Amino acid sequence: MKNISILLIAINVLVLSCIVYGETPSFKVDSNPTLNMVKQYNSSTLYTLSSSGYQDPIFVANLTGTHYEIGYAMGYFLAEEALENFESLLKVAIPYGFERDALKLFLDWQWKDYLSKQITQNYLDEIQGFYDGAKGAGFDKLENAITQAVVISSLPGDPNQNIEALIKNEFLKGDASEFKQYLVANGYDEVIATILNTELFKSTTADGSKPIKGMQCSHFSVWGSRTNSGDMYNGRNLDWLQNSGIAKNKLITFYHPKGSYSHAAIGFAGLIGAITGISSQGIFVAESDNDSNKVTFDGFAWSMRLRYIMEHANSIDAALGLWKATNNTMGMNHMVASSNEATTAPHPAYALETMAGYTAYFPDNSPAEQYLYTNTTTGAATQMGYPIPEAVFRTNHGYDTVIRANQWIDPKPTDDSMIRYMLFHDAFNYYETAQIEISELEAINITSILGAKNNEANFYDCSQGWNGYNIISATYHFAANKMFVAYEEGAGQNRVCACCGTYVQVDLTPFFVSNQIN
Ligand SMILES: *[C@@H]1O[C@H](CO)[C@@H](O)[C@H](O)[C@H]1NC(C)=O
Ligand SMILES: *[C@@H]1O[C@H](CO)[C@@H](O)[C@H](O)[C@H]1NC(C)=O
Ligand SMILES: *[C@@H]1O[C@H](CO)[C@@H](O)[C@H](O)[C@H]1NC(C)=O
Ligand SMILES: *[C@@H]1O[C@H](CO)[C@@H](O)[C@H](O)[C@H]1NC(C)=O
Ligand SMILES: *[C@@H]1O[C@H](CO)[C@@H](O)[C@H](O)[C@H]1NC(C)=O
Ligand SMILES: *[C@@H]1O[C@H](CO)[C@@H](O)[C@H](O)[C@H]1NC(C)=O
Repeated sequence: MKNISILLIAINVLVLSCIVYGETPSFKVDSNPTLNMVKQYNSSTLYTLSSSGYQDPIFVANLTGTHYEIGYAMGYFLAEEALENFESLLKVAIPYGFERDALKLFLDWQWKDYLSKQITQNYLDEIQGFYDGAKGAGFDKLENAITQAVVISSLPGDPNQNIEALIKNEFLKGDASEFKQYLVANGYDEVIATILNTELFKSTTADGSKPIKGMQCSHFSVWGSRTNSGDMYNGRNLDWLQNSGIAKNKLITFYHPKGSYSHAAIGFAGLIGAITGISSQGIFVAESDNDSNKVTFDGFAWSMRLRYIMEHANSIDAALGLWKATNNTMGMNHMVASSNEATTAPHPAYALETMAGYTAYFPDNSPAEQYLYTNTTTGAATQMGYPIPEAVFRTNHGYDTVIRANQWIDPKPTDDSMIRYMLFHDAFNYYETAQIEISELEAINITSILGAKNNEANFYDCSQGWNGYNIISATYHFAANKMFVAYEEGAGQNRVCACCGTYVQVDLTPFFVSNQIN
C-alpha cells in the first residue's frame, strides 16, 4: 500500500489536461437559461444558472472587492461545495486514505516550498480570504484544500514523467529536507524511499506504451475575413477525469478585483485559477498540455497566471508583455487573444508553446509552424504544421524547434494530437471553401468537434459520448457579449460528455457592466 506508484497513478488521473474523438456532433444550444439569486455577502452575489440541459444548475459567482474580500465571499458562498469537489476527485483517484494523506503532504510541500513563491500577494490574500470566508460561514473542514487544488491543477498531462523531473530537480537542490522529515515523522518512510527510486517514475510500461493514455485539450481563435463581421470567436476544450462528481458543483466566476479589470473563469467550485476565461477587455486565455522534460514549480502557477493576465491586460501586446515578465512552470501550450483588437491588431491572437524558462510565440500564419516530419526509416517527409491567416489553434504538441527538442515525445503524423490539430485546420478550410462565414453556431461546432468523445475513429460522432473525457467545452463571442458553456452531465450510460451536450448561453452584459479598471 505504501507505494508511491499508486500515488502517481492517482495524480495521473487527477491532472488537469485534455482528449477528443467524434457526422457533426449532436450538441444543443440553450439560449435562454434562467439566472436566480441564491446568496449575497457585502457587494458579492451568488447565482444559479438553470438550463434544460442540466439537472443541477451552474453556479455563477459575481465577486466584487479587494482580492481578500473576493476570496472571503467565495469561501462564504461555496466552501462546502469546494471541499465536496476536492474530496470526490481524490476518492475517485485514490481509494485508500493512506495514499490520500501522502498525496496531501506532497501537495502541501510543493505549494509551500515552490508554487506559492511566485504567486502575487493578491492571490495569497484571496486564498486567505477563502479560508476565512469558509470559517465565517461556519465551515471549518477545508484544511488546505484550496492550495492543494492549485497544485493539482498545475501538473500537466503525464505526472509520472513531470513529477520525476520535478522531484529530481528539487532533491538535487537539497531543499526538500523538510518534506523528508514530514514523511519520516508520519511513517511514510517507504513512500520516500520509493520517491527516490526513480525506476518507479518510469513514464513508460514494459511494452513501451504510456501507462495511462494521455489526456488532451485544445483551443482556437478565429477572426477577420473568416468570420461574420470580422468578429473574433474563441473556443477551448478541457478533457479530464470524467464522471468524478465535480460536475455537481459547476462554477462560472466573475471577478471584479479592486484596482484591476473584471474577468470571468469557467470551472468548478474549489478551483480558484482560470483554466479558460475572458476579461471585460476581451482578453481570452486557454491552456492545453504538452509534456516537456524542462519543468519546474519555480514559476507562476499557470491557472493563476492566466487570471493575472486577464486582470491586467487590455491589449494583446499587454498580455504578451505580462507573459514575458512572469515565469513558466510546466510544458504547456497556451493561448492569449484580444477580441477587441480583431480588426486593429496585426496579430490579435498568439499560441504560446512553453516549458520551464522558455516560450515560443506563434501568431496566425506563422512560418515557424510549418515543419516537416521525416520518417527515419523511409526518409519520407510529412508536413506537420498548416499555419493559416486569421486563425490560431493548438492541441497538445509544439512546433517550435526548441520546444520540440525538449518534448518528452516528438509528435508523429499519426499521433492523436496531430489528428486533432488537423481537425482544426480541416474545419477552417471547410468553412473557407464553402464560403461560410463563421458565426456562433459554426464556432460552437468547431469547439464541439475537437472535444474528447471516446470515439478515436470519428471525432464527428457522439455515439460513445457517454464515455468521453470532455468535461468542459466553451465558445466565446465577446463582440456580442456572449459565451457558450457546456459541462459533462449525468452518470453511467446516461452520461453525456460536455461537447456532445448542451452549450448554455451566458450573457456577459449583466456582469461586465463597466470596462474600466475597478
Ligand atoms: C463586509 O462589509 C463590511 C461593511 O462595509 C466591511 O467592514 C467588511 O470588511 C466587509 N468584509 C468582507 C470580508 O468583505
Ligand atoms: C523568474 O525566475 C527568476 C529566477 O529564475 C527570478 O529571479 C525572477 O524573480 C522570477 N520572476 C518573477 C516575476 O517572479
Ligand atoms: C515510417 O514509414 C513506415 C513505412 O511506411 C511506417 O510503417 C512507419 O510507421 C513510419 N514511422 C513513423 C514513425 O511514422
Ligand atoms: C505532447 O506532445 C507529444 C507529441 O505530439 C505527444 O506525444 C504527447 O502525448 C503530448 N502530451 C500530452 C499530455 O498530450
Ligand atoms: C460542423 O462541421 C462539420 C465538419 O466541418 C460540417 O460537416 C457541419 O456542416 C458543421 N455544422 C455546422 C452547423 O456548421
Ligand atoms: C456583478 O458585479 C458588478 C461589479 O460589482 C456589478 O456592476 C454588476 O451589476 C453585478 N452583476 C450582477 C448580475 O450581479
